[in-house]
Amino acid sequence: MIVRQVPRYLLIGSGRVARHMACYFDFLGIFYTQWHRGMAEEVLASHARAATHILLLIRDDAIADFAQFHLADVRGIKIHFSGVLNVDGVYGAHPLMTFGPDLYAREKYETIPFVVEAGAPAFADLLPGLPNAHAEIAKKDKAKYHALCAMAGNFSCLLWQKLMHDFENEFGLPAQTARAFLRQQTDNLISDYKSALTGPLVRGDHATLSKHIHALKDDPFAEVYQSFINAYRAQEEKKS
Ligand SMILES: NC(=O)c1ccc[n+]([C@@H]2O[C@H](COP(=O)([O-])OP(=O)(O)OC[C@H]3O[C@@H](n4cnc5c(N)ncnc54)[C@H](OP(=O)(O)O)[C@@H]3O)[C@@H](O)[C@H]2O)c1
Repeated sequence: MIVRQVPRYLLIGSGRVARHMACYFDFLGIFYTQWHRGMAEEVLASHARAATHILLLIRDDAIADFAQFHLADVRGIKIHFSGVLNVDGVYGAHPLMTFGPDLYAREKYETIPFVVEAGAPAFADLLPGLPNAHAEIAKKDKAKYHALCAMAGNFSCLLWQKLMHDFENEFGLPAQTARAFLRQQTDNLISDYKSALTGPLVRGDHATLSKHIHALKDDPFAEVYQSFINAYRAQEEKKS
């Protein structure tokens, strides 16, 4: 029987993900210490020496330097949560979720899958105590994997923000008018992503597409609309 050491986590950072992870660890009853750069460096050194697992929950562009300057001599396993970075000596485990300012319920944290880079220790050794699902990704694929996540999550958010803003400001329609539509679109994607697309693109309704482009002509999103048409057509041609 393998007896695993009780982990001693150190969470570094005080941003959104650090707050969410601290909250999740509290739910799970996992002991941790925390440090952020508003605290004394001696505290970091002492927490880092005692830690078995060090989560660098700081800006992507600060992770490599921070690990090199502050953690080069400590023995604990170092982990970052960036979906795109490859950093020597720091394993990548990306929680595939968006973390906003508000904390979530325990059940929501438990449904977050971690996409872990190949070559990292087994999940139970990398993030002991976390019951989350996990999957592996090759380091060379991380940039494209994360580009897809950012496109789907961030760009669809921009489109919905645009719709709600223009509803309110151009047409005097309350933003919540769009809620049922947004929920149903999301539900359809979750239940069968392949059949979730409706509308003029999938119907090949060129007259409506032209009207839309014309109606958007003074709007920076006209280019976005046209580039979606182009990408959709290129993708369909590739399939045939
Ligand atoms: N937010 C998400 O939805 C999400 C999802 C998945 C993965 N991630 C990953 O999680 C990590 C943290 O992201 P986040 O959203 O929590 O970012 P965030 O809210 O912007 O917080 C960034 C944290 O990094 C700290 N920091 C920045 N530069 C630093 C430095 N040189 N030394 C020490 N600390 C430094 C900041 O400290 P100050 O407060 O002092 O500036 C802050 O505590 C990133 O790797 C990100 O890619 C984020």
